[in-house]
Amino acid sequence: MIDTLFSWKAEYEVLAMESRDCADVADLHGQRFPQAWSDGEFVSLLSQSATFGFVARPSNSLVFKPGLSGFVLAREVAGEAEILTIAVQEKAGRCGLGWRLMQAAIRQAALQGGESMFLEVEEGNAPAIGLYRKLGFAVVGKRPSYYADARGQRSAALVMRRDLR
Ligand SMILES: CC(C)(COP(=O)(O)OP(=O)(O)OC[C@H]1O[C@@H](n2cnc3c(N)ncnc32)[C@H](O)[C@@H]1OP(=O)(O)O)[C@@H](O)C(=O)NCCC(=O)NCCS
Repeated sequence: MIDTLFSWKAEYEVLAMESRDCADVADLHGQRFPQAWSDGEFVSLLSQSATFGFVARPSNSLVFKPGLSGFVLAREVAGEAEILTIAVQEKAGRCGLGWRLMQAAIRQAALQGGESMFLEVEEGNAPAIGLYRKLGFAVVGKRPSYYADARGQRSAALVMRRDLR
């Protein structure tokens, strides 16, 4: 028993996002981004036919009703897909969930007819840029003063793109 507890390792499942997930998604989004989005905004985005998402949940948690560990929301319109937002719970970071969620979004976008995928990322966000580069995204543009933090400090957005074919 003690051996089992000490060798326990968190495992996660990645599932299609449903409207009942949106309260948890909004909660995690609020933990990871300075501008919170409400669960109503997520429900409304998800109800659009071009929009889809995935959530990561612990599949072997020792906790009753564990929270959401990560999510991604994306859309595909006329061959062009876009990542709208992605986040992983801080304590579940760097164990491959961002990679798995992005792979799910890339696969779904291609299935819906997407030929390329775009995203925007703050130029100082090294973890996210590392993830996107590892997935084959390359910088194709820069939007100066695009983001503002809680103190009003502005920073640029990098626009990144990869082929889906
Ligand atoms: C960006 C984010 C989604 C990455 O999720 P994650 O589950 O930690 O990422 P993964 O474990 O799948 O890591 C995949 C790759 O991303 C890069 N990466 C992830 N975390 C990193 C870190 N802290 N520093 C540097 N590179 C990092 C690495 O290349 C990593 O591959 P490696 O572990 O083999 O070196 C997560 O850090 C997050 O939620 N950040 C806050 C919200 C955010 O910034 N979202 C993106 C907005 S554009």
